[in-house]
Amino acid sequence: EKGGFDHFMLKEIFEQPDTIFDSLRGRLDEQRGMITMRGVEEYMQKFIDAQRIIMVACGTSWHAALTAEYMFEELCRIPVEVEYASEFRYRNPVIHPGNMVMAISQSGETADTLVAIEEAKKAGAIIFGICNVVGSSIARASHAGAYTHAGPEIGVASTKAFTAQLAVLCMIALKVGYEKGTLSRERFLHVLHELALVPEKVKEILQQHENIKAIAEKYASARDFLYLGRGYNFPVALEGALKLKEISYIHAEGYPAAEMKHGPIALVDEQLPVLFVATRDRFHEKIVSNIQEIKARRGRVIAVITEGDEVVPHMADDVIAVPAADEMVAPILNVIPLQLLAYYIGVARGYDVDKPRNLAKSVTVE
Ligand code: F6R
Repeated sequence: EKGGFDHFMLKEIFEQPDTIFDSLRGRLDEQRGMITMRGVEEYMQKFIDAQRIIMVACGTSWHAALTAEYMFEELCRIPVEVEYASEFRYRNPVIHPGNMVMAISQSGETADTLVAIEEAKKAGAIIFGICNVVGSSIARASHAGAYTHAGPEIGVASTKAFTAQLAVLCMIALKVGYEKGTLSRERFLHVLHELALVPEKVKEILQQHENIKAIAEKYASARDFLYLGRGYNFPVALEGALKLKEISYIHAEGYPAAEMKHGPIALVDEQLPVLFVATRDRFHEKIVSNIQEIKARRGRVIAVITEGDEVVPHMADDVIAVPAADEMVAPILNVIPLQLLAYYIGVARGYDVDKPRNLAKSVTVE
């Protein structure tokens, strides 16, 4: 059942070229330059007219929402608020009839998310669900939606569901932005093409598992870890830190790289590994100087970089290179090495990564 892999988590990490392909399949048509998604088409006018979109989710799905905030704001020029479902619900949020609320959930059974959308629905919001499990409670409670089609996720730590969520959210943002006219045909086609290339690029990254395993073994005894990224790579840093916490029980925090100087930099010493998600994008020079700041304080730097980067390898202690990609689809690629790193560190520390302590696959209590 684990298909020759030691754990479900590893099997699911390795399935990602296929699962991402599955979430694009039948939707993204590169030849005709279009995206077909019935649930989105049905509510297209609501998306176009939306004064804002509220996204509610928990955990890894919340990280997908955070990435989507960047996508929707950039491509659709719609302000997005990303909310922890649990906080949203208890805060007496301002929701008006006709507001768009997007709920993101792998299981479709997360109680916090479910209750949040039920409240929003009562206030007259339109609920758009993005779930992996077909026919799940959140899917049923939504007015419309799109499934992620990643297949059953057994590993407690979410991996393939996350990359499928990113692929689906990117397609929705592209489709809405294009219909709305906030996105040029040229940029639309470019990102479409970049998305279509993702499954092959994920395959390339997975081929580096031996390198990532060696890095994992080198840092497996760390007590704390810092994950840093900017822009589209900031949510990736948060997700990398969450994966490490769940699977290896190492204390890890994710931060926007520029925020480091406002406090977390006090933690940096020769003991602290700092993982930078530093692929080439519009922030690259900035993040290079953040890496220098860490090295100046003798922190140990692991960097996820774009293949061909000739600067960062001279500064970092260890690097993992990924294929070049548009910054908007880069999170789908960049999270893969972080999933593997967390997995191999958990294994090196002797834990059963498929049964992390204190965690359940879906949290059906509030
Ligand atoms: C992380 C993880 C959790 C879930 C969260 C939401 O690896 O598994 O953080 O992401 O409990 O679950 P869903 O997406 O099922 O609503």
